[in-house]
Amino acid sequence: MKTGHALRCIACGAEFEHAAGEFRCPRCGDLLEVVYPGWARSEAQTLVWASRLRQTWWERRLSRHAQDASGVWRFRELLPHLPDGRSIITLREGNTPVFELPRCARSAGVDLLLAKHQGMNPTGSFKDTGMTVAISVARQEGFSWVACASTGNTSASMAAYAAHGGLRSLVLIPEGKIAWGKLSQALDYGALTCQLRADFDGCLRILTELVRRHPIYLLNSINPYRLEGQKTAALELLEQLDWQVPDHIIVPGGNLGNCSALGKGLEELRRLGLIQSLPKLSVIQAEGANALVRTLRETGGQRLVPVRAETAATAIRIGNPVSWKKAVRVLESTGGRCEQVSEAEIAIAKAEIGSDGVGCEPASAVTLAGLKKLVRQGFVHHQERVVLVLTGHLLKDPEYTLKFHRRELLPETAEDQRGRLDPYRRAPLEVEPSVEAVLRVLEAAEKSDATH
Ligand code: F0G
Repeated sequence: MKTGHALRCIACGAEFEHAAGEFRCPRCGDLLEVVYPGWARSEAQTLVWASRLRQTWWERRLSRHAQDASGVWRFRELLPHLPDGRSIITLREGNTPVFELPRCARSAGVDLLLAKHQGMNPTGSFKDTGMTVAISVARQEGFSWVACASTGNTSASMAAYAAHGGLRSLVLIPEGKIAWGKLSQALDYGALTCQLRADFDGCLRILTELVRRHPIYLLNSINPYRLEGQKTAALELLEQLDWQVPDHIIVPGGNLGNCSALGKGLEELRRLGLIQSLPKLSVIQAEGANALVRTLRETGGQRLVPVRAETAATAIRIGNPVSWKKAVRVLESTGGRCEQVSEAEIAIAKAEIGSDGVGCEPASAVTLAGLKKLVRQGFVHHQERVVLVLTGHLLKDPEYTLKFHRRELLPETAEDQRGRLDPYRRAPLEVEPSVEAVLRVLEAAEKSDATH
């Protein structure tokens, strides 16, 4: 199977071999996507390929070869071919687990709830799956500098892959609005890190101008190679489910690259005959960063309604999402919904995911909060199979978690909502250093368990 690819504009359909620095269509300025003109067309050929691909991908799990051990490059038949395989920079990304969330399932009102935990990637977020592909293209094209604007995870991922591959990296982040775990990663991996007195959208605007003036490779998700890597999470998930298509997949929405990537992956699996139907892919945003929700409600998905974003889930504190058109297309083709959830709902959902022993960062928890809403609306039925995509690791944002348990998070939340948060809080207890004192605490906890 050939993996020769082209870049195609999603609006005017023009095709290109290479993209200019800011990855927009030189004719009309819209977004580009990677397409594979060499893929089979006849139905019989498709069936043969489908079973061969399943077999090949499965067999590679036994191999120790770096490209096979990567949960992204293992699916390389569906990725751009890099003529010089030595350009590939991999940290053995992907290969992330699918967990059951029994407590969360009960609380959401569904029989079975699964979580694909993309926070189990090498730098703790889903960004690694896209980064390995796009940064390898950068190296192939001879760049020595790469750059991104970020709410934290992209910068952590880019810095790691750049360092691993011997490239320099430049990070633009919004001052004071990025989680410590993420900032510390960028510093440790040696990125040139600039905190700008701007929000994410402002950082991205500056970077877009910068790449026009300086030979530096842009690694935000407007870069379509990022989405190629990220789409492999959909392939890996379907393989983990024995190619049984779930009814719903639910993802957080920020810059809207991830939902676009997963939607593309699912659509390609269907085209290649690996699955016969599509799951409904739904996108959940924070109420304070709800550009896609408003775009759909107010313009029917025709025109972006940017917002001034504000949410404690800093990863998705984005008001002007680049990939909104791709996301609208995915919602339409899969029949998914777009919803918004409040800060209190996010905090509760995050604590519940923690109580299943899985944990995630706040932005990932919007998926569970959104699922509860979709169940209440009758869009998700209790017997349907649902997969939440958890995008970031719990340890990315320990400050949020500590503030929540110490009652310091969301001080402005209304009294009745604060009451709803209390049962989930677990502040550390100050205890005398004696066995008797610890025993008393233990007995009190057992008594309280028995009464709940
Ligand atoms: N979840 C996490 C943990 C994220 O870091 C992000 C985005 C998203 C969800 C949203 O994904 O943008 O593809 O819709 N983080 C970016 C960053 C923007 O810079 O790390 P999206």
